[in-house]
Amino acid sequence: MMVYTEGDKASNHKPKIECPESVKKGEKFELRVYVEGHPNKVEHSIRWIETYFYEDGRDFNPVMLCKSTFSEFVNPDIKVEAKLENGGKIVALAYCNKHGLWSEEKEIKVE
Ligand SMILES: [Fe+2]
Repeated sequence: MMVYTEGDKASNHKPKIECPESVKKGEKFELRVYVEGHPNKVEHSIRWIETYFYEDGRDFNPVMLCKSTFSEFVNPDIKVEAKLENGGKIVALAYCNKHGLWSEEKEIKVE
């Protein structure tokens, strides 16, 4: 599967992941995943974002954290409350109907 992470279209296709660098075990925190500056029309838009977590020490990864689909009436911007027991890596995938699948990842520590 081809997934893009860089290139001249990365700035408005690659999802952005906002969350603390480090969180407390079992405590809620806000996770935001979004794509900024992309056209938002029926013929060209970000159709969905999926977010996964690769948990340190887990036998089978990843775990899906959230999945959203979008029409041209809404911005591709998701905020959820999450809580983790272990650290790991958050991976977001964003799909543009014209320019394919884009990904970003971010490490998160659990104290
Ligand atoms: Fe696009």
